[in-house]
Amino acid sequence: MSDASVSVSEWTGKTGKSWAHEWQRTDRSFGPLTQRLLAEAAAEPFDQALDIGCGAGEISISLARKCPTSQVSGVDISEELLAVARERAAGLSNASFELADASQWNAPDREPDLVVSRHGVMFFEDPVAAFSHVSGQVSPGARMVFSCFRKRSENLWAQELSSILDVSPAPADPRAPGPFAFGERDYVTGTLEEAGWEALRFDAIDYGMVAGEGSDALDDATSYFLRIGPAARAIAAMSGEERDGAISRLRTMLDSHRKGDRIELPASCWIVSATLAR
Ligand SMILES: C[S@@+](CC[C@H](N)C(=O)[O-])C[C@H]1O[C@@H](n2cnc3c(N)ncnc32)[C@H](O)[C@@H]1O
Repeated sequence: MSDASVSVSEWTGKTGKSWAHEWQRTDRSFGPLTQRLLAEAAAEPFDQALDIGCGAGEISISLARKCPTSQVSGVDISEELLAVARERAAGLSNASFELADASQWNAPDREPDLVVSRHGVMFFEDPVAAFSHVSGQVSPGARMVFSCFRKRSENLWAQELSSILDVSPAPADPRAPGPFAFGERDYVTGTLEEAGWEALRFDAIDYGMVAGEGSDALDDATSYFLRIGPAARAIAAMSGEERDGAISRLRTMLDSHRKGDRIELPASCWIVSATLAR
């Protein structure tokens, strides 16, 4: 498959497993983006938050700690990732996690007034239907704050991986569920407005995606990229000399992004904020 799309079944299967195994390194990879997103989410008080595609729980847990009188519900379709989130949140009474497809989630006892997500909203088959459903589950005037990658062409890390690994740089449908599905600002605007959201704001954030660090930063980054993301998928399908060559090119590429004891790749995303129409 192309590196452009990641289907629901992958999150409930192999990809979810890898992310659950690698939660420390995936949390680390988001670098300064996490604090920016959390600051935006907590900029106004809220009673109940819904974290869409909460994964291993960093955003839910951090938000619950930051706002101890509020409740945070994380939902995800990966049982493995939720198990990690629950373990990390042990003893934290205002964060909970449940297995649910956000496009069908409902909880009659809850009416979130904040929706948050770190890179968890780009995988819906039908984004308008999914966000419309979410609109029906949250309170009128609810706020939403999520991060998502900007276009593939604006993400040098993905461009460089494409060129060294010979994976398709231009998928047939750039809006297919996957990491770059929400790269086009006009498309995201149309999707959210159709689902009832207004007062949209797009903050363009450029950040260093942390791939490796420490005295063995290059080994760290290489092993991480062999576990997570498009390089892992492409290289898993290779063997022998082809695989050795690809890993060697990957190492050279990663090393070219060394900054002190860190390897950081240029990444570009949006933090999108919106309010549900009353
Ligand atoms: C890129 S990961 C981000 C995980 C987490 N938010 C983080 O920042 O570490 C995307 C997450 O969205 C989840 N996901 C994908 N489709 C979903 C859906 N329809 N409903 C709920 N979660 C979904 C995946 O299982 C995965 O955990």
